Amino acid sequence: MDNNEVIEKVFEKVSKMENIGNLASYIPELATIDAEKFGIHIATNSGASYGIGDFDENFSIQSIAKVLSLCLAYKILGERIWERVGVEPSGTGFNSLIQLENDNGIPRNPFINAGAIVVADILISHLDHPKEDLLAFIRSMSPNKTVDYCAKISSSEKTIGYRNIALCNFIKSLGNIKNDPNEVLDFYFDICSLELSCKDLSKLFLFLSNKGKTVHDQLEILTRSQTKRINALLLTCGFYDESGDFAFKVGLPGKSGVGGGIIAIYPNEYTIAVWSPKLNLKGNSYRGMKFLEAFTTLSEVSIF
Ligand code: DON
Repeated sequence: MDNNEVIEKVFEKVSKMENIGNLASYIPELATIDAEKFGIHIATNSGASYGIGDFDENFSIQSIAKVLSLCLAYKILGERIWERVGVEPSGTGFNSLIQLENDNGIPRNPFINAGAIVVADILISHLDHPKEDLLAFIRSMSPNKTVDYCAKISSSEKTIGYRNIALCNFIKSLGNIKNDPNEVLDFYFDICSLELSCKDLSKLFLFLSNKGKTVHDQLEILTRSQTKRINALLLTCGFYDESGDFAFKVGLPGKSGVGGGIIAIYPNEYTIAVWSPKLNLKGNSYRGMKFLEAFTTLSEVSIF
C-alpha cells in the first residue's frame, strides 16, 4: 500500500471513531471552531503531495509556530541559544511554571510556553522588526507566501493570557528575559496566532525532512547539524508530557498546537500535517494522535 492509500484507509477509520476531547476554550476565539473539522496532508521530499478532508482550510497553528521562531533564533544565535533555553523534556504541561524557580529561569526546552517566550525575547533583541522579520523568514521557506498572523486570535488570547503573563514576568525576575515583558508577550501571542492549512503546513516544514533546505527551491534554512538537533528536540519535547507516548506510538519527530494541529516529520522522506480541533487531556489533538499512530502502524515504516 502506498502512503496515499494508507491515509485514505486510516482517515476513514478514525472518522468513524468517537471524537473525544475538548476544544481549547481557554482561548475564547478557539472555542468557536467547528469541532468536527478533520484534515490531513502529506508532502514528500520528491515533490509529491496528497490531502484528504479539510486539508486546505486555514486553522490556528498555535504552538506549532514555536518551531519556526526557534529555527530563526537558532539561525541567528547558533549554539549560544542553548545558554538561554534547555534541551530536556520537561515532563510537565505546556504552560507549567513549576520548574523555573529551581532552574534559574532557564526553561527546560523551547517548546513549552516558558521556552517559546524566551525565544521571542531573543528575537526581539536581535531583529529590527521582529514580527515582520519572522513572517518574512516563514514566507521564505513556504511555497505559499500569504501566511500571516491572525489579529482576531491573538487579541482573543491577549484578553486571558494570565498564565503566560505570569510566566514571562517570573522569568524576567530570574533574569532570563532581557526586554519589556509586555513587548515579549505581545510578540509571543502573535506568533501563536499564525494560521495555515494542513497543505501549507506540510510544505512549510519540508526543510526539516530535507536536511535543512526547502524542497521547492533548495534554500538553506538551517544547517544539516542544526536540522538534526531540531528534529531530536521535536521527538523528545514536541508533545509536552505526552512526548514519550507519541515517540512510542507514532515514532516520528513532531509538534502539536492547541488549535488541534500536528506536524510530523519523517526525515529524508516526508512531512504530514493533521488537523482535528478536539484536544486530549495533555492539550494534543485527540484524532490527530490516533490518526498518526494508525498511519505509521499501517505504513510499517519507522525511523528506528
Ligand atoms: O500560550 C498558549 O497557551 C497557546 N498560545 C499555545 C499553547 C499550545 O499550543 C500548546 N500546544 N499543544
